[in-house]
Amino acid sequence: MAGDGNLSHRMINYCSRHQINTPSITLLEYSSVQTQLAQASLDAEGVSIVNGDVLYY
Ligand SMILES: C[S@@+](CC[C@H](N)C(=O)[O-])C[C@H]1O[C@@H](n2cnc3c(N)ncnc32)[C@H](O)[C@@H]1O
Repeated sequence: MAGDGNLSHRMINYCSRHQINTPSITLLEYSSVQTQLAQASLDAEGVSIVNGDVLYY
């Protein structure tokens, strides 16, 4: 339910700005279009991007 990953992106930037170790993140999104947008904007290590339905994941 992560959409285009904008919240994950902000969290990664926040951790970077405040010198906090970024936790590993799994981003789950149903829409393939939104998932592709997330893949394009989030290339950080430790981010796993899954295209799927939260009800069946
Ligand atoms: C309102 S958007 C919120 C996106 C993001 N969390 C944000 O705050 O910007 C809700 C997202 O949930 C996704 N979604 C809806 N039902 C879902 C489901 N069953 N499994 C995974 N994602 C789902 C939609 O495709 C949509 O991208």
